Amino acid sequence: MKTIMLVFGTRPEAIKMCPLVNELKQRDKINTIVTVTGQHRKMLDQVLDIFQVIPDYDLSIMRDNQTLFDVTINILNRIRPILEKTRPDVVLVHGDTSTTFATSLACFYLQIPIGHIEAGLRTYDIFSPYPEEFNRQAVSIISQFNFAPTERSKRNLINEGKKEATIWVTGNTAIDALKTTVHSDYSNPHLDWAENSKLVLLTAHRRENLGQPLHRIFRSVRQVIEENPDVKVIYPIHMNPIVRQAANEELKGVDRIRIIEPLDVLDFHNFMNKSCLILTDSGGIQEEAPSLGKPVLVMRDTTERPEGIEAGTLKLVGTEERTIYEEFSKLLNNKEEYDKMAIAVNPYGDGHACKRIADILQR
Ligand code: UD1
Ligand code: UDP
Repeated sequence: MKTIMLVFGTRPEAIKMCPLVNELKQRDKINTIVTVTGQHRKMLDQVLDIFQVIPDYDLSIMRDNQTLFDVTINILNRIRPILEKTRPDVVLVHGDTSTTFATSLACFYLQIPIGHIEAGLRTYDIFSPYPEEFNRQAVSIISQFNFAPTERSKRNLINEGKKEATIWVTGNTAIDALKTTVHSDYSNPHLDWAENSKLVLLTAHRRENLGQPLHRIFRSVRQVIEENPDVKVIYPIHMNPIVRQAANEELKGVDRIRIIEPLDVLDFHNFMNKSCLILTDSGGIQEEAPSLGKPVLVMRDTTERPEGIEAGTLKLVGTEERTIYEEFSKLLNNKEEYDKMAIAVNPYGDGHACKRIADILQR
């Protein structure tokens, strides 16, 4: 019997790790332990509830306006006794958050093997996204098992000197979740509100966008909405108080922009499916939207998901007010441009990534 511990702490990690938890729990030769850091509290618990995952350990580290220091130090200190007590044969971490980096560092100090889910994504700009590009590169230095979502991410790892025998292309576990959540007969009162309009879904939270970039994003969205009476925006806002304050300053009082609390993943996937386009700086949404054929304007300067750009569904528009205004207006009013992007493609796998990862670990 081998013991595998999965460690995660934020919403996107949970969405992509919970399906794997449930897959591993079905394997009788594997003892599965779940540790959550609680880097996010409410947004994590929302996902745990949906997937009915009950953690074995909860580090409960979140505090309001936490800094990268807070998160990293608290995880290192609180995870150490758990790892020492349980001594897993392998610890699985996901992607590029501070939870992922701090957990990997703790495992390295204790010489516990690390399996990295969603390995090999890169922008090669260490400050963008910040601090995620550093986090994922750092994990790659010390991980023994690398589960890459695409051939491109595998190539990145090989070019950095990782041995091919430690890398498996599995697809992204995000798609596993998406396969079960979207239903054509889904309904919701917010969607009824937008029924006779073009629905745009908005999200924004990246650390490097906090401050002026976020204000520019919101101002450009507001201007487009004021000029296009047939458009409504739903914005499930991140819980970060800095994001909330900026949104409150720039978007308050516009009746065709509805700011709502974070949606649970089942609702969010169905909102995406009913939208006409998506404005976001999120990573995970860039993976999900292409499968649904929803054009995405990515409000960032870089992306580690070039597959979606090449497929034509994603467009990188940066955070300049004028550019976002122009690109957003164009997609709303130019059918040819819109149709070019609204093509359902799925560069991120067939929805069986969790099974593949579990098979490899079992072997
Ligand atoms: C983190 C990840 C980022 C990921 C994002 C997903 C790092 C460095 N960043 O950024 O890669 O894209 O999660 O959303 O790991 N908060 C709550 N309740 C919650 C969640 C957050 O109140 O359930 C508030 C807290 O005040 C917290 C703040 O949001 O201090 C920021 O959370 P944090 O995890 O530090 O950063 P994110 O921007 O969420
Ligand atoms: N998501 C959600 N509810 C929301 C907004 C997003 O469940 O209100 C999901 C979305 O489908 C995707 C993930 O959260 O799977 C993306 O998380 P986020 O944007 O917070 O982080 P990132 O992917 O940028 O790291």
